[in-house]
Order: sequence, then C-alpha cells, then structure tokens
Amino acid sequence: MKASIALILPLLLPLAIAQIPHWGPCPEPAVQPNFVLKKFLGRWYEIAKLPAQFEKGRCIETNFSMKADGTIKVSSSEILKGELRTLEGTGVVEDIKQPAKLGISFSYLTPYSPYWILSTDYDKSALIYSCTDVLRLFHVDFAWILGRTRTLPQDTINKAKDIFTNSNIDVSRMIASRQQGCDKEI
Ligand SMILES: *[C@@H]1O[C@H](CO)[C@@H](O)[C@H](O)[C@H]1NC(C)=O
Repeated sequence: MKASIALILPLLLPLAIAQIPHWGPCPEPAVQPNFVLKKFLGRWYEIAKLPAQFEKGRCIETNFSMKADGTIKVSSSEILKGELRTLEGTGVVEDIKQPAKLGISFSYLTPYSPYWILSTDYDKSALIYSCTDVLRLFHVDFAWILGRTRTLPQDTINKAKDIFTNSNIDVSRMIASRQQGCDKEI
C-alpha cells in the first residue's frame, strides 16, 4: 500500500496544483444504467472539461475500439503548439457488474484511473467522471463532456452540468474545449 501511494503521489501532485483538491473522499455518483460498451465505442470529441488547463492542446478527440484480448484501445489526439500529438491507452471493465465504470491507463507504469460514464445517449453526448482519493483525506477529480460532434447545443451542455451538480460534483470551473479550425490546418 505504501509503495503504491509513493508511486501515485508524484503523479497526482502536478494535478493537485492544477486543480483545487476537495476535502473528503470521492463522491459516489450514479452511472449510466444498462451501459452498453459496444454502443459507446467510436469517436468522441472533448466539448468541455474540468479542471481548466489553459495551456493544453485543442481539437482533443478520443477513439475507443475493442482489442482482440477484450480490452479497449483508447487513442487520443490533440493539437498542441501546431503539432498533432497522439496518445494511446488501454481501457478495462474492472467489474463486469459495473460496466459503466471503466479503468484507463496510458502507461504500464501507472495504475488504471477511474473513467466512469455517468450518462450517455451513445449518439450525441457522454458525461465522464474520474475521481481519485488521496489518503481518504481529499480527492482530485476530473470531468468531461464528450460529443459525437465537435460542438454541442448549449442546452445539452447545461443539462450535462446539471447532472454533474446533482451528483455533488462541482463543475463551476469547467471550461469549454477548443474545437475550432481542427479539420483544416494543423
Ligand atoms: C479516430 O478515428 C477517425 C476515423 O477512423 C480517424 O480519422 C481519427 O484520426 C482517429 N483519431 C484518433 C485520435 O485516433
């Protein structure tokens, strides 16, 4: 246990600085009932995120696809300082009884981070939540609104924020992701 905390803390520290940690353990929001992973696969664009990372890239998208071994291939890309950057990770369903609670890792060195699908209609938008307890004293969390298109109606975004808020997740600092000028120049 000690070893894993020692491993995780340096990874969390920069996040904790970029993000305001909240006291207490992670909230336990409800997730998408009867989640069907197959319908969730494919391409999603990042519409909004928490925390605000102003220095980060734009045109962020993620593709989910099944691998032969039953795990999920997670390919993300962003345009940062004029360059297309890609990142590949692995997703798993950790408990078959909780199919909407994925774990995603972007390196063999890091543990699976929670990647919970709180709500999705599969063909327009999805709400993702990731929370990590630090010593049960405080937690650091991430939230995303994803879209099947590069933009979503404001009404959809407002409803998504309401769902987070009703799950005791503070999304007041959520910011819109930049998805402009993505299909032309890099
Ligand atoms: C996602 O898939 C689409 C369509 O196959 C492809 O054009 C795009 O480059 C992929 N993006 C990533 C990040 O893998």
